[in-house]
This record gives sequence, C-alpha cells and structure tokens, in this order.
Amino acid sequence: MIIFGIICVALVIFILKYVFSSSGPNPFETDTREPLKKMVHDKKEKNKVLKQGFVASKVPDNLDAIIIGSGIGGLGLAVLLAKVGKKVLVLEQHSRAGGCCHTFSEKGFEFDVGIHYIGNLLEHQSFRCMVDHITNGQLQWEPLENPFDHVVLGPPENRRRYPIYSGRTRFREELKKCFPGEEKAIDEYVKLVKKVAQGIWFLAFLKLCPVPLAKFLVYTGLAKRLSSFFRMAPCSLTEVVNKLTENKDLRAVFGYIFGTYGNMPKDASFSMHSLLVNHYLNGAWYPKGGASEIAYHMIPIIEKAGGAVLVRAPVNRILFNGAKEAYGVSVMKGQEEVHIRAPMVISDAGIFNTYQMLLPKELQAMPAIQKQLSMMKHGEGGLSIFVGLNGTKEELGLKADNYWIFPENNFDELVENYMNGKREESAKKIPLLFVASPSAKDPTWEERSPGKSTLSLVSFAKYEWFEEWKDGKVSNRGSDYKELKQAFIDSILEVVLDVFPKITADKIEYIDAGTPITNTYYIGAPKGEIYGADHGIARFSPELNAMVRPQTPLKNLYLTGQDVFLCGFAGALAGALTCGSVILNRNLHLDAIALAKKTKILNTKLKGE
Ligand SMILES: Cc1cc2nc3c(=O)[nH]c(=O)nc-3n(C[C@H](O)[C@H](O)[C@H](O)COP(=O)(O)OP(=O)(O)OC[C@H]3O[C@@H](n4cnc5c(N)ncnc54)[C@H](O)[C@@H]3O)c2cc1C
Ligand SMILES: *[C@@H]1O[C@H](CO)[C@@H](O)[C@H](O)[C@H]1NC(C)=O
Repeated sequence: MIIFGIICVALVIFILKYVFSSSGPNPFETDTREPLKKMVHDKKEKNKVLKQGFVASKVPDNLDAIIIGSGIGGLGLAVLLAKVGKKVLVLEQHSRAGGCCHTFSEKGFEFDVGIHYIGNLLEHQSFRCMVDHITNGQLQWEPLENPFDHVVLGPPENRRRYPIYSGRTRFREELKKCFPGEEKAIDEYVKLVKKVAQGIWFLAFLKLCPVPLAKFLVYTGLAKRLSSFFRMAPCSLTEVVNKLTENKDLRAVFGYIFGTYGNMPKDASFSMHSLLVNHYLNGAWYPKGGASEIAYHMIPIIEKAGGAVLVRAPVNRILFNGAKEAYGVSVMKGQEEVHIRAPMVISDAGIFNTYQMLLPKELQAMPAIQKQLSMMKHGEGGLSIFVGLNGTKEELGLKADNYWIFPENNFDELVENYMNGKREESAKKIPLLFVASPSAKDPTWEERSPGKSTLSLVSFAKYEWFEEWKDGKVSNRGSDYKELKQAFIDSILEVVLDVFPKITADKIEYIDAGTPITNTYYIGAPKGEIYGADHGIARFSPELNAMVRPQTPLKNLYLTGQDVFLCGFAGALAGALTCGSVILNRNLHLDAIALAKKTKILNTKLKGE
C-alpha cells in the first residue's frame, strides 16, 4: 500500500511537470476580446463570410495547415492556430461553413441544425472565456429559462411533467419537491454526477501525455484508480440509477438527458452521462442571433492571419509521399481534382470518413489504423423535423426552453423496441422526442422574422431504414421516401399538438424532416450519425482514449473535433483544444484556464475602479 502511495505521488509529480512544461506559442496569451460591434442580420452580408465557394485562385500561398471540415472542431482549431500567426485553409464540402453549427432557410424560416442549448457558459468560467476568446468577444449568449428542460413522461391520458432547474442547489431542491421521500437518492445522484464529471481532465491527459506513459497508466490499471471518470465509465446509467431508487419516474428523470449523447440508458456510460448533467448544472444558453453567428465570428480571425474558409470543397483524398507523410489534399472541383499542399493536414471530418474514405487503400490497411477503427463504432442516426409556424412565441405559448417527451418511463425497452422494429411500425412509436423553439430562444428573432416562429424536433432513426434512397437526389428521392418521412412526421406532430395546445395544425406553414441520409449529405455523417462515433460504454475504455488521439499513425495527419474527444459543441471544441495542444506543443486546456483567471482579475479590477 505504501509503495503504491509512493508510486502515485511520483506519478502525479511527473504528470504535473509534463503538463506545465510548454514550449510553443500560446493562443491564449492575451485577452483578445474587442468592443461589441453592431450585429449583422442581413443574409447577403453574412453569406459573404459563410459561403465563400472554392476556386483554386482563392487558396492562399504558403499554407501552414489544411483543415478538412468546418464544424466547431475544425474552425475552433483554425482560430487557435491563426491566433499564433498560422495561415490555415479550412475546406468544407457543404455550401456553407459551420458543420453542425450551420443554419439554413426555407420559406422564410431560418433553422438551426445542431445547436439547441449549451451549458457551462457562466461568465468568467474558463469555457466561457475560451468561447469569447475564439470569437473575439463578438458572439453573445442568451440564457434559457429556468427551468430549462421539461421531462414529460407517459401516454396522453397520463402525462407527468417534471421541470429541470439549473443551479447546483436548485437542481436538487426542485427535484425533491417533485419526489418527496426520495431526498437521499437525489442527493446521492448529484454527488456522484459531480464527482465523476470532475474526473474528465484525466481523459484529456491520456490523449496528451507521451504514449509510453499513457500505456503505463492504462495497463497497470492506474487510470481507473486515479480517475473517478474512468472508474465509473464501465457502469451503465441503468445500473447506477436502479441502485439509487425504486421510483420508476425518478429513474427516468435521472436519465432523460441520454438523448444528448445518444445511447439508451443500459448502453450509456455513467461517466458520459455525468458530464452532460454537470454541463447544464449552471444553466443553459443559446447563441444570440442563431447558430450561424458562431462561424460568422470565427472566420474573420482565420482570414486576418492570411487563411481562408472555403465551401463546396469536398476533399476526396489526402495526399501522401512515399514515406507515408501527408503533404496536402485533393479537392473535387466538378470532375477535376485540385491539389493543395501544406506541411500538415488536420481532419474534422470524423474518424470513419478520414480513415476509410480519404486514405489510400494501403495506408488504410495499416494495423495501427485498423486497430483504432476496430475500437470505434458508428453512432446512432438522427431524425430532425423542422417546423415553421405562423404566430409569435406568445401566441403559440413557446418559451426559451426544451421538452423531452417520452411515451413511458421504461427508456431501455422503448428504445430497443423502436430500433429493432420495422420502420413503418417504429414510425408510430417514437421512444423519445426533443422539442424546442429556436426562435423563442433568440432575442433578435422578432426583429428578423416578425410574427413567425420555429420548432426543432429531434429523435433517433436507423440509417438502414433510409439507406436504400441514399444515392437519390437530395431534394427528390421519390414518393416512397416521402411517404416514410411523412409517417414519422405525422406521429411526432400528434405528440407536439397534444403537449403544446396553442399550436394548431392551421398554424403550420412549413414542415419537413431530415433523416440519417440527410445528415450524410449536409454534415458528411457517413451513417447519418447525430453525434459522430458511438458514445456507449466501449468508448470510455482508458485504452481507447490513450490510443485515439490527435496524432494519427501517419506523419503530418491529425484529428480534431468530436471523434477525437467527445460530442457536443463543448466536446468537439475540447477536441480542437487537444489537437491544438499537440500541434503547438503546450497544454491549451491549462492556457485557457489561466487566461480565464487573468481576465477575471482584470474585470473585477475594472469594475472596482
Ligand atoms: C440534431 C443535432 C442536435 C444537436 N444539439 C446539440 C446541442 O443542443 N448542444 C450541443 O452542445 N451539441 C449538440 N449537437 C452536437 C454538436 O452539434 C456536435 O457534436 C458538434 O458540433 C460536432 O462538431 P465537429 O466539428 O466535430 O463536427 P461537424 O460539425 O459534424 O463538422 C464536420 C464537418 O466536416 C465536413 N466534412 C466531412 N467530410 C468532408 C470532406 N471529405 N471534405 C470537406 N468537408 C468534409 C462536414 O460537412 C462537416 O461540416 C447536436 C447535433 C445534432 C446533429
Ligand atoms: C397568419 O395568421 C394571420 C392571423 O393570425 C393571418 O391573417 C395570415 O393570413 C396568416 N398567414 C399565413 C401565411 O397563413
């Protein structure tokens, strides 16, 4: 025991020493926030930034890096590199930048794709400081209502509603009001969630420390001993909540947020679950002006350093020399390949796209690549429904909050039946439905689209249900496809009209569904994944996390974004920070924290003066 203690202390000293020895330039050196400029709502103006089409003549000379994909994982990294003077080219296959953060308009309604609410944005906290920094202080955040989530359980004749409040004490106290007699279970749950979530730093550490050290920590079992996060990772959400309480509704309320990472409770790792619960404990926010503001404020920073963000630029392969070193990419321009060179290539396109679509066959076959692929799985497919409504939020009873609606409280059974069912039957028994009104969350909406509102509905769907139409034209895949989509729309709408009585069918001006194959087309998700690679228990083995890191087995090729860290806006951005740490040879997670501390002191001083 004493020897173990000595080893641990020695190890911690070594870890700290490693973590604090930095050498490259620091993108978080100074506070770069600028005074707030006037917001731009004009679409044409914004498109000049977000929709710069690819032509070879727009590619800057002497690039320092090429990034494939303009999601937050790609843009975030590009900004970090730009802040230390690097010239970066971001290439996006879609017709606008942003990845899951992009927006689109139909019939005069603007819709978001993958940003509904983001947590941890309290001012002066390091995550907020980092997000402010990479948008030069121009991206503003609007808090959601408190309660920010509503859990609705049960069939129409017996729906039970549970409001979820943010605030470390309030979250607990409000739950206790709903579940008298369950005080102990609630306290224990929150305590456990916090403890496990705090251990996340170890995941970042495993991806950043030298490989031999990572292997040592993994194979001696020390990773699990030293980290509450990895210790609890093999426990399923179902297992943990079933031990805490017998109350079936409370078990469901503890677990409702599994929709934010996509695994039903019996396959979900309690550690991933804890991260998400903890993420929203201090509140939830929405980008003022809509999700397109995110990329809109990042792109100019990349351009200022001489870089560019070009769209309609599908990379069809990464270029390698004889020594297996990446030296550039090939972009399809019509039928022709355009080759672009850079000393490093970083992919935000996800691990499957990168390794299976963009590498030459012989490199794809390398055991080290195959080993990583064998450890990762495709995540669940997403189903999104976009609704445009005639009426203001007041008229329609919409607020800046979210609803998580389930027909029963037995989530595992619901999801299993749905996923294993025939598609036409599954369409009638949607296991979970996320309902939110992006327009109600955005204070600039009324000015931009007076008298109108939007709803975003999200659920899951199997890629295989829609696969047969994948090669059809995106806007015209045929009547069978339309019919199947309509079956999902009809049953989902029935729930929405029931839970939101002020919304009536005659108010609906626009409605359409995006299926997994829609995700493949617009966000490049190979199997229609909503959150990239799967986040089930296997994703949280220390071994996987030590192995799947920003450096790939191929020289000059790196990974960023959600697959190299975790999903969500925050997870994909952590992927960018981790990748940036490797490239700049310093720990950017710690740099961001240091800047947050510094600006907090500065801000307090300013206020005190
Ligand atoms: C419906 C939905 C709702 C969500 N809700 C939330 C939420 O409320 N809060 C939250 O925090 N997170 C949410 N998420 C998750 C979050 O949006 C993502 O986890 C995160 O944005 C992923 O960022 P990324 O950069 O890793 O990947 P992406 O944003 O997917 O970016 C990858 C980019 O690479 C491009 N690409 C792929 N292949 C190529 C190629 N060959 N050449 C060029 N470009 C290519 C793609 O087109 C895409 O733009 C949601 C996601 C979805 C789909
Ligand atoms: C929207 O509703 C108003 C009245 O509430 C009505 O006058 C108008 O015609 C409607 N617009 C559309 C496009 O249906």
